[in-house]
Amino acid sequence: MEVKTSLLDNMIGVGDMVLIEPLSEDTFIENLRKRFDHNEIYTYIGSVVISMNPYKSLPIYTAEKVEEYRNRNFYELSPHIYALADEAYRSLRDQDKDQCILITGESGAGKTEASKFVMSYVAAVCGKGQEVNKVKEQLLQSNPVLEAFGNAKTVRNDNSSRFGKYMDIEFDFKGDPLGGVISNYLLEKSRVVKQPRGERNFHIFYQLLSGASDDTLQKLKLDRDFSKYNYLSLDSATVNGLDDAASFRTVRNAMQIVGFMEDEVQSVLELVAAVLKLGNLEFKPESRCNGFDESRIKDKNDLKEMCELLGIEQSVLERAFSYRTVEAKMEKVSTTLNVAQAYYARDALAKNLYSRLFSWLVNRINESIKAQTKSRKKVMGVLDIYGFEIFEDNSFEQFIINYCNEKLQQIFIELTLREEQEEYIREGIEWTNIEYFNNAIICDLIENNKNGILAMLDEECLRPGTVTDETFLDKLNTVCAEHQHFESRQSKNSKFLTDHSLPHNCFRIQHYAGKVLYRVEGFVDKNNDLLYRDLSQAMYKANQSLIKILFPEGNPAKVNLKRPPTAGFQFRASVGTLMKNLLTKNPNYIRCIKPNDKKAAHIFTDSLVCHQVRYLGLMENVRVRRAGYAFRQAYEPCLERYKMLCKQTWPHWKGPAREGVEVLLKNLQVPAEEFAYGRSKIFIRNPRTLFFLEEKRRQCLEDLATLIQKIYRGWKSRTHFLLLKKSQVVVAAWYRRFAQQKKYQNIRSSALVVQSFIRGWKARKLLRELKHKKRCEEAVTTISAYWHGTQVRRDYRKFFRANAGKKIYDFTIQRIMQKYFIGLKKTMPSMSPVDKSWPARPYGFLDGTHQELRRVFHLWRCKKYRGQFTEEKKATYEEKLAASELFKDKKALYPSSVGQPFKGDYVEITKNPKYQKLNSLVEDKVLLADVVSKINRANGKGAPRIFLLTKKSLVLADQKTGQVKASVPLLDLSSVSVSTQSDGFFALKLKEGSTSAAKGDFLLSSDRLIEIITKLHRIGATSADRNQINIDISDEFLVQFKQDKVCVKFIQGTPKNGNGVACKRKNNRLLEVSVPSP
Ligand SMILES: Nc1ncnc2c1ncn2[C@@H]1O[C@H](COP(=O)(O)OP(=O)(O)O)[C@@H](O)[C@H]1O
Ligand SMILES: [Mg+2]
Repeated sequence: MEVKTSLLDNMIGVGDMVLIEPLSEDTFIENLRKRFDHNEIYTYIGSVVISMNPYKSLPIYTAEKVEEYRNRNFYELSPHIYALADEAYRSLRDQDKDQCILITGESGAGKTEASKFVMSYVAAVCGKGQEVNKVKEQLLQSNPVLEAFGNAKTVRNDNSSRFGKYMDIEFDFKGDPLGGVISNYLLEKSRVVKQPRGERNFHIFYQLLSGASDDTLQKLKLDRDFSKYNYLSLDSATVNGLDDAASFRTVRNAMQIVGFMEDEVQSVLELVAAVLKLGNLEFKPESRCNGFDESRIKDKNDLKEMCELLGIEQSVLERAFSYRTVEAKMEKVSTTLNVAQAYYARDALAKNLYSRLFSWLVNRINESIKAQTKSRKKVMGVLDIYGFEIFEDNSFEQFIINYCNEKLQQIFIELTLREEQEEYIREGIEWTNIEYFNNAIICDLIENNKNGILAMLDEECLRPGTVTDETFLDKLNTVCAEHQHFESRQSKNSKFLTDHSLPHNCFRIQHYAGKVLYRVEGFVDKNNDLLYRDLSQAMYKANQSLIKILFPEGNPAKVNLKRPPTAGFQFRASVGTLMKNLLTKNPNYIRCIKPNDKKAAHIFTDSLVCHQVRYLGLMENVRVRRAGYAFRQAYEPCLERYKMLCKQTWPHWKGPAREGVEVLLKNLQVPAEEFAYGRSKIFIRNPRTLFFLEEKRRQCLEDLATLIQKIYRGWKSRTHFLLLKKSQVVVAAWYRRFAQQKKYQNIRSSALVVQSFIRGWKARKLLRELKHKKRCEEAVTTISAYWHGTQVRRDYRKFFRANAGKKIYDFTIQRIMQKYFIGLKKTMPSMSPVDKSWPARPYGFLDGTHQELRRVFHLWRCKKYRGQFTEEKKATYEEKLAASELFKDKKALYPSSVGQPFKGDYVEITKNPKYQKLNSLVEDKVLLADVVSKINRANGKGAPRIFLLTKKSLVLADQKTGQVKASVPLLDLSSVSVSTQSDGFFALKLKEGSTSAAKGDFLLSSDRLIEIITKLHRIGATSADRNQINIDISDEFLVQFKQDKVCVKFIQGTPKNGNGVACKRKNNRLLEVSVPSP
């Protein structure tokens, strides 16, 4: 069941100011405060929404909230801006009534935010689809663009709109958006050239400088540093919570979505840059011959860059800052500008450039967002315009703004009353006249064509002669003095002559919302809004197409000598159009109030709110609303709400709702004058009656609540009891099952135990029996085996011998030996005596035998080897053996001789005819013939000699001739001396006293020393008549040379000439032989 809620439910204070009781300013503000403290920022006055700026984000703008308010009646839910938006949208869609939403309030009160909430709500609830979404997106994205160029940080609001905006959103018959049209009002262009302390220029300047890429800035000839630009105030260049760079990206993106071309964006940025450059132009005076000062541009760099940006010829612009051409009828007069005028011209140009750019932007956006069809459209207008302004110092702008608000108030009153009146007629209720303050008289004071203040100002501006703000005030003083809402010190109205709160250069107007004091200074100038024609002509000459469009009056072909319309005139005209437009529409009001001046959440400043309540005319509003019937409600919801107050209608009323309400009210005895029955609504005159009903309802609800509670509690306890009972059965069942299960499991496991015991016992019994049977069988076998054994042994005893063991042993040994010998035979080493190999022994006990066999085998092998020798070979070996015995390990020469066969005759003495004579001289058989070298005793040099050895003697003969040089019988030889070394020296020592000894001992040298000495030694050994010749082996021995005994000494060392042996006579007693070391 859908729960019907009402505005009256859970109310904090009262949700609708109409219901306030008693109505006074104090109760009004107290109600606002109470609601504000509970974050209830919206309150109604009938269908008007009062919105307090919470200065913090509240969770009341979610998609769920949108759904909650969608298609619900206005008073059904607690007050919300969505309720108003929904009401407006539905009556536009369903009743085909064009709507306008008028948002007013002072700067920072939340108008712009409210307009955005309205637009986003409408966007959320209206049709869907690709086309529609594109339109919605474009409409929504026009906001960031306009905010960038038209909003600025002020002391009141960090994002204050400095222009009035009215936007018509157009819908088709289904309620789908088609497009829109935006109108802008009075951009505060003075901000371009000068900003009050703590405020900034328009956002776009800062956004461009912080957000554009380096490349873009370079193209625009700009510098990122704000301080470089005179037109940018620096004390609040960066604002907390505003990210200019990010905003710049948002703006560019939005421009793209809205449909700006890339070159258009570029042109716009160039113009913005040009304004900044313009601000940097400075002028200096230059004296002229006519005595006047003429202004000159100080530093032309900025001018140059600006001209390059816009494609203007520098000289043209430069001239426009120095001269001014005044055209009158047929004449053209050129006058010079002084420095002050030049500055004025510069600022005027900057202001015009910027404000025209802004208007162009609005038009360009309109071009993009305008509806594509020509068919009839339904329109919803949203007006976000500056609210009533009362400052300490009020000037032309405030005057204009307050005028606009007067007009809005006027149509507010007209429309509210008209609406009220129409409703009464619609509902068939008698119309009672309502007293209210009509501000038409104030509007007239300002806008009257003949003697209105604006008309006065225009007249003064157009008047020839000197015109000043003072002359304007004088004029006002004469013309408006009688007006009851105009106050001035100088006026004829003597009442103000002594009013010191009213300075001489001011006038005061009693607006509907309070008195405002205006200072006349600047009125004329601002109204004139003069831009020298030379400047607009210079601008028109620019190459850049956009700037040409912005200054059409500069076109020389269209020189218009008529003055352009004044600012006041233009504004009055556009306000007129706006009013006409609004009057055709059904108005919806949002009145924004700001709770404090600190932009802070939670602070509610009574005086400030009171001030706003007053000038917004909210009390008036309530009074007007209450003039007829304070409260109205359709019959159905009314009956639904109060039906419990009467037995007939409770709980269900069968019949028309109206009759039900009638029965109800009669039953409650409400006085008849307190209400009136309309066609579809009941009208209640006094809030008191409503509260009486509400109070009754509250009490009744309490009783009903008790009843419901009682029944509910009974029901709840009963169901709880039944549930408990049901549960108990379930629990018991489960428990029983569980217990039975347990018992069964116990019995089962016991049965198993008993079973297993019995089975075990049976099995053991069987095993015992089987074991016994097996043992019996084994016993039988054993007994029979023993019995058989005894039998067999008894039969075979006679066949055994006592020495069988030895036989077996012998046989075994024999077998082993056999095997050993056969094995040895197979592995016998070779017959070579030098072969040292011998097979390994197979058994330890044969060790001795094995070694002995090896020795025997070796001896046998040697004997065999020797047996092969011939007699001759045997003799040779005997000689070799003798040489071995003599020299082995004693003389170093020996090893080299082992391999040489002892040939004996090396000179072929028998065959060589040269030695025939010598051969014949020797009687015995020559045992050895060889060439030796005889060492000269004097110098140690050797001379070759043939050396012959026979059994009896040795002969030395000349090698060439064979002539015998010496012949020594072996008997005369006492000993032979040789060295231990590898030389071939040997000394033949002769017995003293022998015949041969006369000449002395022989010192000879031969390579075959070993053979010579061995043979010599063997001769001694074989002949019986001679002693063996002694052989001395020593490295130092004495030799008898004639009379002297000379010591022959062998030393090891390397002789100087070659490797051979060197012999040298050192002195009388020493002959030194040096033998190369091995
Ligand atoms: N409903 C709201 N919820 C939260 N903050 C708000 C609301 N309305 C206004 N504000 C805050 O107040 C500031 C000023 O609001 P704005 O709509 O720009 O004022 P105005 O247009 O009346 O000068 C906003 O920037 C925002 O911070
Ligand atoms: Mg705003």
